[in-house]
Amino acid sequence: MAGDGVIGIHDLSFATTEFVLPHTALAAHNGTEIGKYHHGIGQRSMSVAAADEDIVTLGAAAAEPLTVRHGTDRIRTVVLATESSIDQAKSAGVYVHSLLGLPSATRVVELKQACYGATAAVQFAIGLVHRDPAQQVLVIASDVSKYELDSPGEATQGAAAVALLVGTDPALVRIDGPSGLFTADVMDFWRPNYRDAALVDGQESIAAYLQAVEGTWKDYTEQGGHPLDEFSAFCYHQPFTRMAHKAHRHLLNTCGQDTDEAGINRAVGRTTAYNAVIGNSYTASVYLGLAALLDQADDLSGRSVGLLSYGSGSVAEFFAGRVVPGYREHLRTEAHRAAVDRRRTLDYAAYRELHEWSFPTDGSNHPTPAQSTGSFRFAGLRGHKRVYERR
Ligand code: HMG
Repeated sequence: MAGDGVIGIHDLSFATTEFVLPHTALAAHNGTEIGKYHHGIGQRSMSVAAADEDIVTLGAAAAEPLTVRHGTDRIRTVVLATESSIDQAKSAGVYVHSLLGLPSATRVVELKQACYGATAAVQFAIGLVHRDPAQQVLVIASDVSKYELDSPGEATQGAAAVALLVGTDPALVRIDGPSGLFTADVMDFWRPNYRDAALVDGQESIAAYLQAVEGTWKDYTEQGGHPLDEFSAFCYHQPFTRMAHKAHRHLLNTCGQDTDEAGINRAVGRTTAYNAVIGNSYTASVYLGLAALLDQADDLSGRSVGLLSYGSGSVAEFFAGRVVPGYREHLRTEAHRAAVDRRRTLDYAAYRELHEWSFPTDGSNHPTPAQSTGSFRFAGLRGHKRVYERR
């Protein structure tokens, strides 16, 4: 085992899209009472990708600050988790590896299991670091979530990427103790290869998520995990932020504990700030919850945080992190807030046009409209090949 045996998240950075659609604009279009969005599901706005943004540009933008701060010498593995992949064979991580100029002596792979994939990536990373403590693993969770226009899922769309550097002696969060695991074959949410937008049975998906909360906690306690009252906060996967409240209420119920709103709010309220304005970023969502928790004002040094990662279909994992004393010196709070604030607001018509936009698939050359202003852009298709540029 490495050094003092501690492995965890050494650095965390996120990026989101060029554009944002406020829920007020969606509500004005479809006649929904805004309270349903703001309070019922707990969402204020959704990140919307420009035509020249995708999981690669978002992933590279999230990861670049990590490579600038720490260099690339120790990174020997890149694991990119996504469920909105851009190729059936080539890993999106290879494009990111190239855009960031990572060493050729690197293994790169893509992982998929709906929103759960990034947690599998973190667990694989921990295993790799145990085996070779000198290496750091770059985990990237990157997704653009898309539902049909005018469907109930539309209000829960979003897009973002989170990059995590996993290694020994982490500066932010130590991964601590066992995992609670749960898998069940359910069709709550899925996206066949021929579809751009996901299919979902909304109520069934909520029930499947809650069943997974119960299942992971049962296994976590059987594996000898920490008792519930040792945790200062809980980061849940947040398809919409009220889901974190529902999930925690269910966990408390399962444990036979009080389910008063104030207690639930104390446990999850500090994890929702980014997800409420970004929307569902699928694999990135639970780690945006962690980013929000660390970036808020309370000092959590030495405290335990529970992470519950859920991916429809379904696979879930509950595990614990312990916040490292001194972590606040390593946060990227300003950059994170800037990434949210720099987004340009779309009106409903412009959002709809982007939602309906797609590339011709005839193999001829198609440049993308230049819309984004970030460091990386998807320049277009040339003979079925995706071309990326760095500004
Ligand atoms: P819906 O039918 O539009 O909404 O679907 P609803 O009628 O269920 O209302 C939502 C909430 O708003 C309810 O609260 C209402 O009472 C409340 P609840 O009873 O649930 O506490 N409400 C109001 N509150 C205040 N003022 C009002 C008002 N009106 C109503 N005026 C649904 C909502 C989430 C199902 C839909 O958006 C959907 O299908 N979303 C996509 C699926 C989803 O997000 N599922 C979550 C669990 S599965 C998951 O997390 C995995 C996922 O991320 C994918 C992956 O793993 O890859 C999705």
